Amino acid sequence: MAFAGTGKIWMNGALVDWADANIHIASHVIHYGSGVFEGARCYATPRGSACFRLDAHVDRLVNSAKIYRMELPHTQAALSDAILETIRANEFKACYIRPIVYRGYGTLGVNPFPNPVDTAIIVWEWGKYLGDEALEKGVDVKVSSWTRMAPNTFPSLAKSAANYANSALIKMEAISEGYAEGLALDSFGYISEGSGENIFLVRNGIIYTPPITASILPGITRDSVMTLARDMGYKVREEMVPREFLYVADEVFFTGTAVEITPVRSVDKILVGNGRRGPVTEALQRAFFDVINGEVPDAHGWLTYVYPHEAAMREPVKAAAAKSR
Ligand SMILES: Cc1ncc(COP(=O)(O)O)c(C=O)c1O
Repeated sequence: MAFAGTGKIWMNGALVDWADANIHIASHVIHYGSGVFEGARCYATPRGSACFRLDAHVDRLVNSAKIYRMELPHTQAALSDAILETIRANEFKACYIRPIVYRGYGTLGVNPFPNPVDTAIIVWEWGKYLGDEALEKGVDVKVSSWTRMAPNTFPSLAKSAANYANSALIKMEAISEGYAEGLALDSFGYISEGSGENIFLVRNGIIYTPPITASILPGITRDSVMTLARDMGYKVREEMVPREFLYVADEVFFTGTAVEITPVRSVDKILVGNGRRGPVTEALQRAFFDVINGEVPDAHGWLTYVYPHEAAMREPVKAAAAKSR
């Protein structure tokens, strides 16, 4: 989706016009991928705009920076406030949120230390990542010929710009061959994740997802879905999953901030189940969308309101009045 090219971007503590949010071509990050970032979303709810799991996203950003030995000039609380300030400055009701911490302009040796650690926050209106239809009809996926990073190469627990070179190879191969998305195995041949999303499989009523040792980004949507699934009484197992499980699963779905919960309709041209969104996927989608749309009580404290005073004046959703499932 193209950018509107207007509004404000937060850069190192100041809100600047979209057109002026530039960095120098000799910045370290451009040459060596020395940046860590986040992707979060703000949703329109009956109590006003709310960021979904803002604390978890900022926490992951801080940890990604720590893994890459970047000294963050802002505290976690200051980063959260800056995100809310940027959304308010752009007057978005709902938007995608992209904070990035990167090695800026100084020298171009591989050693990143001499360069400043800069921070920016970009927000924009971004619809459904894999298309509106995908949430219901599902997407066609191929197992990529590219493998996710092996352990002790690129740390998958850090959401680092460098990791997305691998993601781009997975995504380009999938698109070139007519698929919506690629799914990568880890270096041992077990299922890892999509180019920008985690994967879940359902078989005989049990929900499976690869563990953090399978070279995955520990997704915040993944964590939310596991929590909701357990709340709903499902058994959830984090364990190594062999590739062929994809072909015999009753249901497969992706999770991520961008894709939310998107069913997978086929893998390598083999239909998943009967090729339609399955009942577990649908139930989890409903539970997840009810939370992000503020239609049920925020039982886990996942919503951070952009205008807290306004939100406080509006009635919270009561359990009894919540949408019945
Ligand atoms: C490689 C990768 N895996 C998984 C995810 C899902 O993570 P989250 O649910 O935190 O968005 C993302 C998206 O950020 C991603 O880029």
